[in-house]
This record gives sequence, C-alpha cells and structure tokens, in this order.
Amino acid sequence: DKAGYPHFMLKEINEQGSVLRRALFGRTASDLIDLSGEWGITPEKAKTFKRMDLVACGTSFYAATVAQRVLEKYLKVDIRVDIASEYRYRPLRAGGDTIAVFVSQSGETLDTLEALRHVKELGAYTVAATNAPNSSIAREVDDVIRLNAGIEIGVAATKTFTAQMAVLILAGLYLAKLRGELPGADEKRLAEAMKDLPYKVEQTLLLKDVVRSLARKFGAARDFLFLGRGVSYPVAMEGALKLKEISYVHAEAYAAGEMKHGPIALLDEELPVVVVAPADELLEKTLSNVEETRARKAPVIIVTTENVPDVNDVSGTIKVPMTEAELTPFLTVLPLQIFAYESALLRGCDIDQPRNLAKSVTVE
Ligand code: M6R
Repeated sequence: DKAGYPHFMLKEINEQGSVLRRALFGRTASDLIDLSGEWGITPEKAKTFKRMDLVACGTSFYAATVAQRVLEKYLKVDIRVDIASEYRYRPLRAGGDTIAVFVSQSGETLDTLEALRHVKELGAYTVAATNAPNSSIAREVDDVIRLNAGIEIGVAATKTFTAQMAVLILAGLYLAKLRGELPGADEKRLAEAMKDLPYKVEQTLLLKDVVRSLARKFGAARDFLFLGRGVSYPVAMEGALKLKEISYVHAEAYAAGEMKHGPIALLDEELPVVVVAPADELLEKTLSNVEETRARKAPVIIVTTENVPDVNDVSGTIKVPMTEAELTPFLTVLPLQIFAYESALLRGCDIDQPRNLAKSVTVE
C-alpha cells in the first residue's frame, strides 16, 4: 500500500523519521547506548577483536562506509570496509581476532552471503545487519542486528540506508563501550544527538520543493559529479548511485580531494557538481574544491548545514539542520534521495522498478 504516495520510493523516503525512531528504540535509553537486550556479546569477547571488516554491496556498502568513518574515531580496532564481490575472492588475513559485519537489507545478496562463508571458514565472529531476520545471511551468522525499517518495496534503497547507518553506528559504539574505549562524554553526546535526528530528518524532508526546483533546473544535464570528504564521501557515492539507478543519468562520485587528480579535466558549464559539505573539520578543504569547480564554470549545488555561511555564485544551496559532525550523513543524504526521485519523475522513468534491476541480487 502506497499510503497515498504516487511511488513506494517517495513513501519510503518520507518514512525515515519514524524508521530512525524505531532503529533507536531500546538502544539509546537515558542517553546510554545499550544493545545488551538483543546482542549477547560479552565484554571479554569484545576485547578479543583486533580487526573489524564491514562487507556489503551497493547502498549497503555506502552505509557501511559511513559507519567505518564514524567508528574509527572510537573503536580501537583496524576497521576495514569492502565490497562483498571483492572480499569473497581475496586472500584474507582475518581470523579469530576478527569481527566481520555483513550489511544487507534483503539478507539474500549472493556475493554478501558468499563473503560471509569465506570469512567464517577462517574463524571470524560474524554479525548481520539486516532488515530480513529470517534471510539466508541472518541464518548463517553468529548474531543478527535488526534494522526494523519495515518492508522496503522501491528497488532504490532509501529508508534502509538510514536504518543501516543507525544500527551500525550504535553497534560499533556499543562494542567500543564494552571494550572500555568509549568516553562517557562521547556516548552521551552521540546518544543525545541521535535521539534528535528523527525530528531533524522530518525538518529536512520539508526542503523537498527547493530540491525539486533544482532537479528541474538541471533536468537536461547528461552527467553529474558528486563530491564529499570524510563521512560525506560515501554520501556523495550514495547520491550518485540513486541518480544512476532510477533516472539513468550518468553520475560519478569522487572524494573531493581526488578531483584535481583527474576529474577536474571534465569540468565545464555542462557538468553540474553536487558538493556535500556540512560543517565539520573538513569543510574548509571541501570549500576550496568548490572554488576550483566554480573557476571552471561548472554549476555547483551545495548540500550543507544551516550554520555554514552562503557561498557566492553557486547554482543552488540546500541547508539541512545542524547536528554532530559524525551524524550529518543522516540529513545530507535526504536531499540527494529526493533529487534522484524528482529527476527520475521528470524523465518519466519507472521509479519503483528501474530497468535491469531487481530488489535483491541473488546472482553473481
Ligand atoms: O539487500 P542488500 O542490501 O544486500 O542489497 C545490496 C544492493 O543490491 C542494493 O543496495 C542496491 O545497490 C540498491 N538497489 C541500491 O538502491
């Protein structure tokens, strides 16, 4: 049931406030991060890990990459993130000191399932973050952390991306806490900020008209470049994937600092550049990439936070509410989802069932 929305994707985009409330429910009571009700891992076991591998495909891989960028500040293990179809064929040095986390909305993605089998044979402790607790992946792991996002029907993942970021960050912080690595002040700061996110998500979704008018302005563009640094790099990748997937417009994402190593040659009036640049310690660096882009006449759309002063001569600015720097992906991704949706709508594409794609990829 589309609940009055023209497409499941739009319905699912708009559900993200309540999806986050559910993802946080029972995991952030009284400003503490606590997953003991569902995850029986002991502090002794948690202290045995030296390595964490986050493994997934597509949008789930980008959610895992956001989590990696956030958690590496707190969790004192070597955190790696990999695409399942690469990981499964690699000669891994993982073993009993490894916690391997498989991120899959459907729990049925074949490459992710095979990646799980590969590392399990080496003795790793395995966890699934999934929306499908009875799926193949959920059945084969040691522990399951549920997304509780509700069924997602649109082929383009939206609300499960949000739920995945939330549960991966919470689970990783909980692990850091069990290992004695999470300072109490950070736990409180992040738990409080996460509890404010559902409302801020809803505020951000109100920006839909601004985003729609930008999608119209660039309705004839054939290519887009998406840029971001740190936690915003995977957000840029997710924005580019959404646009390719449902509107069939070519979009490429780059770590902003890599632009001068090649893609800068592409820049001209015909190539709109979407820059994800919220207030964080990398903002100044990203704004210098905006300068380089504008100097080459490429139109720029900036997705930033409300506390960042306006940048001159850009084609569009989208300002999301402020939050902790680590948590900005929960808000900056929303205009990118809406941008892809509106672009696909303009082009008359089949939004919920894009060509050549299936909701779960059970082939190699
Ligand atoms: O079910 P999974 O999370 O394992 O699926 C992974 C990808 O196939 C999936 O995220 C795909 O990239 C989506 N269509 C993205 O919108």
